[in-house]
Amino acid sequence: MLPFKSLTSSKQLTPEIIKQIFTVVDQMAVSIENKGRIDLLDDKVVALLFFEPSSRTMMSFQSAAQRLKAGMVFAQNASSTSFEKGESLEDLIRMVEAYSDIIIMRHAQQGSADIAAKTSKVPFINAGDGGNEHPTQALIDAYTIHKEIGRLDSLNLVFGFDSLQSRSIHSLSRLLSQYKNNRFTFTGPKELEPSESLLAELQSTGTECVIASEVNLHDGYDVAYVNRLQEERFENRALFEENRRKYRLNKPDVENSGCLILDPLPRIDEICTEVDELPNAVYFKQASYGVPVRMALLAMLLGKA
Ligand code: NCD
Repeated sequence: MLPFKSLTSSKQLTPEIIKQIFTVVDQMAVSIENKGRIDLLDDKVVALLFFEPSSRTMMSFQSAAQRLKAGMVFAQNASSTSFEKGESLEDLIRMVEAYSDIIIMRHAQQGSADIAAKTSKVPFINAGDGGNEHPTQALIDAYTIHKEIGRLDSLNLVFGFDSLQSRSIHSLSRLLSQYKNNRFTFTGPKELEPSESLLAELQSTGTECVIASEVNLHDGYDVAYVNRLQEERFENRALFEENRRKYRLNKPDVENSGCLILDPLPRIDEICTEVDELPNAVYFKQASYGVPVRMALLAMLLGKA
């Protein structure tokens, strides 16, 4: 059983809780392998509200719900709902909770997940609230690192290249800051460094945080977690255009570095396709873990695992 009803921030994901979740993720992975689909949630309905573009998150939640045999209700963009008519988020959630047993929502507004979780009588999962947090992605990322390296502490990590606006970077760094002896190096354009408040929060856990204009992955890094510049969140278009192709991993950067390369995807300009064939490029494997991780979360939040 999880000690919370809803998941809005990776700050809720302590090492103890993550250990429990990973045990269930491993069981889900085995059940996919052996049976494909299981009856665990055949008495439940999952609501999926995606008010910002999504491929992986939306489809892996759908696949997870299908593999658990849950029913689904679905709204894909604000213009297809009464948001367009001016309905408040609170009213929307009050309706959807009557149609479902758990609500998953992606929304462009930072803080929308907290409002929805507070309003909802049924469990709620934040699938990305603006540039703020994406806690289920952080779980997938952490699961990948754990599978590949066998630990989540004492890691030397690089984050790039838009630490200011990437909710995936925010959530993974918050999650990993709860483990001992991790060291974070943030790299990318100066204007896209992590906010002072995020840095202060991470440092308050004792995590060493460094800002570097450039890094060499051959210098003993364990993991590079890269994410595209978050084009849709730029107020200054020129800043995006100026930097979009400046930060890009190529084969010589990565080959024989011993550094795992993760990316929540979509990959735009931040990794050359020639990197894909290298054994330490694990971003597609990482994406595949979305299904068992989200199956585990759905089952646990609904008290079935
Ligand atoms: C991420 C997101 O939506 O924040 N994508 C995802 O969920 N896998 C990263 C991104 O869009 O760059």
